[in-house]
Amino acid sequence: MALPFFRITGGNRLRGNVRVSGSKNASLPIMAAAILCDGEVLLHDVPNIADIRSLAELLIKLGVDVERRSDGAIRLLVRDEMNVRAEYDFVRKMRASICVLGPLLAKRHTAQISMPGGCAIGDRPVDIHLRAMRKLGAEIDLVNGDIVARAKRMRGCEMFLGGPFGSSVLGTANAMCAAVLAEGLTVIEMAACEPEVVDLANFLNQCGASINGQGTPRVVIEGVKQLNGCEWRVIPDRIEAGTLMVAAAITNGEMRLENCRLDHLMAFVDRLAAVGVEVERKDNVVIVSSARRLEPVEVVTQPFPGMPTDLQAQLMTLLCLADGNSIITEKIFPDRFMHVPELSRMGAHLHKEGPTVIVQGVKRLSGAPVMASDLRASAALVLAGLAARGETRVNRIYHLERGYEKLDDKLRGVGADIERCEIDAPDDE
Ligand code: EPZ
Repeated sequence: MALPFFRITGGNRLRGNVRVSGSKNASLPIMAAAILCDGEVLLHDVPNIADIRSLAELLIKLGVDVERRSDGAIRLLVRDEMNVRAEYDFVRKMRASICVLGPLLAKRHTAQISMPGGCAIGDRPVDIHLRAMRKLGAEIDLVNGDIVARAKRMRGCEMFLGGPFGSSVLGTANAMCAAVLAEGLTVIEMAACEPEVVDLANFLNQCGASINGQGTPRVVIEGVKQLNGCEWRVIPDRIEAGTLMVAAAITNGEMRLENCRLDHLMAFVDRLAAVGVEVERKDNVVIVSSARRLEPVEVVTQPFPGMPTDLQAQLMTLLCLADGNSIITEKIFPDRFMHVPELSRMGAHLHKEGPTVIVQGVKRLSGAPVMASDLRASAALVLAGLAARGETRVNRIYHLERGYEKLDDKLRGVGADIERCEIDAPDDE
């Protein structure tokens, strides 16, 4: 088996235009919601990445025709409603497969989904998802590692979806999908406010649902009898946009981002401004440039509209080169620090105390062979390689390619010295 890696030689200042792809985290629940629709769904700007292909495979097993047209749009049409099972092999590869739970229960009244395990960024419980399904009238059992759920007809209700770490993005997505065909009114308190949840709600309304309050902690859903299909363009990927902003800043370059919604990145842009990175909109382009001297800052990750946990690793990489000590606290996934030992191999001075990392700024990072792990930690290592002196090899970039579409092409297009290579896996790999 060939193992892909990136070979990066640091030091080039990135300059030029890049188009941000459509959002992975909006596309996944919207594709799953096609299970609810009696009619064709046509989605534009869904990124061509591994996680999307994995979900498409699962949906095909669940009787949904899924095809990527030559113009890049994804067409989905429910063909047969017999299968309601998401096996361990799918869910093990991608825990976001849990987002078929709500649609299957609402439309086919039963679902059997392997319990998602943990992953590189920590435990990934689904108690909030199951609480929502039970509140709507489903019976849920755990049988041999599978969630087995049954519901004759979902009944609208009031539910509170807060957990120990605040709201749940996919928990809210599952609750909305389960409620849109329920009998009567559903009120979700402490709903997630992320733009991806808003995009899903707006997509469902385009299909004939009646959802209000999306983007606020209180979402109200009036059940309807049936949903049609619709044509929809998913929102830009705010996490890819934030990652590219750091690429511009860490190389002291200047990048112009197309298809970038600044209103989805307020907290992150606020932190970048405090560091000394200028982000401004001109016409329909976002321009990012940075002062040579980077200021240290405090960072605490929060649910939207707070600082996104998915940009914590990327911001940490930038702060490795700030002039002083920064403090980063991870309040969503307290163990989400797989990038810390790898950045340290590149000369970063990082000191982890539980969910907090003290980042002591250094003058330079130095290139080294490093290991990608979770998706965003992998992106952080690429960013470090762009700024480091010498060559960096980021191994196991299949983690990265789950969520970034052609990142090496995009970076090379603005002057980065990066190439995607492959080696044959040694037997023990
Ligand atoms: C979504 O995951 C995103 N994934 C994640 O992005 C993102 O990090 C996360 O939201 C937080 O913003 C997709 O949208 C596909 P949560 P999700 O439920 O919905 C706890 C990436 O890099 N929790 O909002 O699974 C949970 O452990 C990925 O693109 C419960 O306690 O995250 C966490 O601490 C990584 N019980 C917190 O809530 C539950 O039932 C937030 O998790 C569910 C979650």
